[in-house]
Amino acid sequence: MSSETLVQQTTNSPEAEKAFSKENFDQAVMSTYGRFPLALEKGAGSLVWDTEGKQYLDFVAGIATCTLGHAHPVMIEAVTKQIQKLHHVSNLYYIPEQGELAQWLIEHSCGERVFFCNSGAEANEGAIKLARKYAHTVLEIEKPIIVTANASFHGRTLATITATGQPKYQKNFNPLVPGFHYVPYNDIRAMEDIISELDEGDYRVGAILLEPLQGEGGVRPGDVAYFQKLRQICDETGILLIFDEVQVGMGRTGKLWGYEHLGMEPDIFTSAKGLGGGIPIGALISKKFCDVFQPGEHASTFGGNPFVCGVALSVCQTLEQENILANVVERGAQLRAGLHNIAAQYPQYINEVRGWGLISGMELHPEISLVAGDIVKAAMDEGLLLVPAGPKVVRFVPPLIVTAQEVKIALQKLDKAIATVTK
Ligand SMILES: Cc1ncc(COP(=O)(O)O)c(C=O)c1O
Repeated sequence: MSSETLVQQTTNSPEAEKAFSKENFDQAVMSTYGRFPLALEKGAGSLVWDTEGKQYLDFVAGIATCTLGHAHPVMIEAVTKQIQKLHHVSNLYYIPEQGELAQWLIEHSCGERVFFCNSGAEANEGAIKLARKYAHTVLEIEKPIIVTANASFHGRTLATITATGQPKYQKNFNPLVPGFHYVPYNDIRAMEDIISELDEGDYRVGAILLEPLQGEGGVRPGDVAYFQKLRQICDETGILLIFDEVQVGMGRTGKLWGYEHLGMEPDIFTSAKGLGGGIPIGALISKKFCDVFQPGEHASTFGGNPFVCGVALSVCQTLEQENILANVVERGAQLRAGLHNIAAQYPQYINEVRGWGLISGMELHPEISLVAGDIVKAAMDEGLLLVPAGPKVVRFVPPLIVTAQEVKIALQKLDKAIATVTK
């Protein structure tokens, strides 16, 4: 099906006529999000439409999730095929689609064993449990500490908000989960200090959990020398090195996994978001030596069911067969070149442009009153969806299938939006 046919189908559908009530929504749904006054109901490729029929270029992609964009024919086919065949059975039985997806992940990464769950937070919870058991049973640490980074983001469950090195996500949820310490990102001295400081009594560092590029924390790429030194420290001490690849894994950076940019491999890593292209799935992927879970120690009802695994497998195979990583590299370079041009026009507002592949951040100067949300709102008026990464960084995470023409149009819309807010 061509994207033109899809566009016609989506915009002319009878559902587009149905009225949407923000008031009814707010009455019924918990207000855990600060929502924009926008209701989206259709998508095709990198385009989405709101309930009024207005079209937007979607450079949010469900926050780095819709790998193949919206209504991709491969996903439509995979969803249809799998729901007709078998959608859910218990993990008490072998699930062939789960095995196939696990094999794909192993063949395409440094990992050797996979556990499937439903989200990034849940994958990180699994990693935290695995690391604790490894620390108790292999490293013989009575009270293992997991070190994470300031400005990190690892999810919204109790353990993952504790792992997240941002107090704003922890406020009012005390008592937090014990056993976490935080250090500045990309700072090897701070990591060495905490490892030696905690090396006494029952407490010792058992694992380090980091993002290869901090996404929510402001699109901050990891430093190669830092991560290579960390690998060396972990090899010498036995400390587990865990990567949270939830936002940057699955091709988002132009390589399949973020760690490939750093010239080293983690012992354990997690994936979610882009893995299912928008179908809820998470994965915890480890080397064999630290896969210490025994039957009954970790589980998930929905984790790895035939439906999500069948669809995620189709996303993975499409990434490979259509050489989508090459598009990520080219479109990422095009987008960042355009962002640098815009930044050069507004040096008094824009501090830096950074990123890998199709995750880019445009950082505003800290001392000015303009915030990322102002640009996001103005861009929305222009028909371009963007998302902040913290108060001062505008994030660009379009579908990995975004075209050169779409990147060009997005840059024009952004230019207009910035002109408006800086007038
Ligand atoms: C790096 C990282 N880890 C974990 C999560 C949590 O994932 P989820 O929202 O699927 O629980 C996110 C979500 O933004 C993330 O960016």
